[in-house]
Amino acid sequence: MKVTVIGASGGIGQPLSLLLTQNTTLPINELALFDLRLSKGVSTDLSHMTGPTTGIDAISPKKVKGYGKDELSGALENADIVVIVAGIPRKPGMTRDDLFKINGGIMRNLILETMKHARPDCLVAIISNPVNSLVPLAVETMKQDIHQKYAPEKRVFGVTTLDLVRAITFLKESGQENVTQNGNSSNCNNNSNSNSSSKEDIFKDIVVIGGHSGKTILPIIPESTLLKKGLAKGTNTKDYNDFVYKVQFAGDEVVKAKEGMGSATLSMAYSGYMFVSDLINARCNTQNKQAYTSSTTGMSNTIVAYVCLNNNNKGQQLKEKLHNSVDYFSTPVVLQKNTGFVEHLDFDHTLNKLNTHELQLLNKDVLPQLAKDINKGESFVRSSK
Ligand code: NAD
Ligand code: LMR
Repeated sequence: MKVTVIGASGGIGQPLSLLLTQNTTLPINELALFDLRLSKGVSTDLSHMTGPTTGIDAISPKKVKGYGKDELSGALENADIVVIVAGIPRKPGMTRDDLFKINGGIMRNLILETMKHARPDCLVAIISNPVNSLVPLAVETMKQDIHQKYAPEKRVFGVTTLDLVRAITFLKESGQENVTQNGNSSNCNNNSNSNSSSKEDIFKDIVVIGGHSGKTILPIIPESTLLKKGLAKGTNTKDYNDFVYKVQFAGDEVVKAKEGMGSATLSMAYSGYMFVSDLINARCNTQNKQAYTSSTTGMSNTIVAYVCLNNNNKGQQLKEKLHNSVDYFSTPVVLQKNTGFVEHLDFDHTLNKLNTHELQLLNKDVLPQLAKDINKGESFVRSSK
């Protein structure tokens, strides 16, 4: 499989590429790194750390290839999976939407090039912001090519994994800490209190739906998990509201802490690595003789991603539940074995189980903003034929 990372020399691109080289179980024949700057430096750097003497189990350096700024076509040639992380990040005081002016044009061009050079059935993972608008922009751009053999609605994914990773992390933190006899915190989880829940248990329990910006991010945590964590769920419970706010505005917290030098990079690289691994496993024939377990959700063949709802009946059903107000939504998605396309959406344990408070948040905060963001991405394409 050929995996192409575009924006590979950036704050996210570099650690994401590093992580992808470290998992030898992923069937990557070529990891193609493209950027307007430094990509050959990054690929050379990555090529110096495999081999028996280092003890590091990395993919062969020959498989990592850097492409310079005039070599985008080569980087994309026959790519199975294209990961787009190119574009500018936020500075303090900016919203993700402020990035659209620059990143919208970058994304459109990269999608046009992807359509020309990558495999016609390639999967496209979009990390660049604003995800809420850039995914519709990408799908609309692809739809303009009437010769597209494979529906863009089934193979363009907005990466919202970081929201899930954050929700899980903050949820874990919100449990009572193990305290040793002298009062110091301990990392040892040797009893059955809240911190001892296994990673898998928590992954199974929670999802984050909606979009990827501020209040469009809606974590959905089962009542039982919240109770276990000492967070009473329900309207205007302070701890619960604080938790939801922290997940929704965690990106702002990082932007502020980085003091003008960018936004989340390492936690995004970690989340992006898990997401891309899931896409690779969904597409990989050998591993998919049996269902794979997603590294992000812990569920069989199921990831959480921001996708187009006009992809099948389940998408239409979800759209109706959302009052036909949006065409894109982040939700659990079941991927087809061997193609990695969207098979169907799986909202039985999310949207069907929202409590009154969550429904209020969905209708009041998520849907109106998301509709505006989606329209922005689609309009950009319609006006730039
Ligand atoms: P960065 O500035 O460190 O890196 C971006 C890279 O893109 C740079 O190396 C730049 O040279 C490259 N680039 C710019 N235009 C390009 C083009 N046309 N072709 C190829 N490469 C190009 O930024 P970063 O911190 O890595 O963030 C990248 C994007 O990811 C931002 O838009 C940011 O908001 C977004 N992001 C998304 C999430 C998420 O959860 N989806 C999380 C964090 C950051
Ligand atoms: C994040 O959630 O950290 C990213 O979307 C980057 C940002 O601008 O906050």
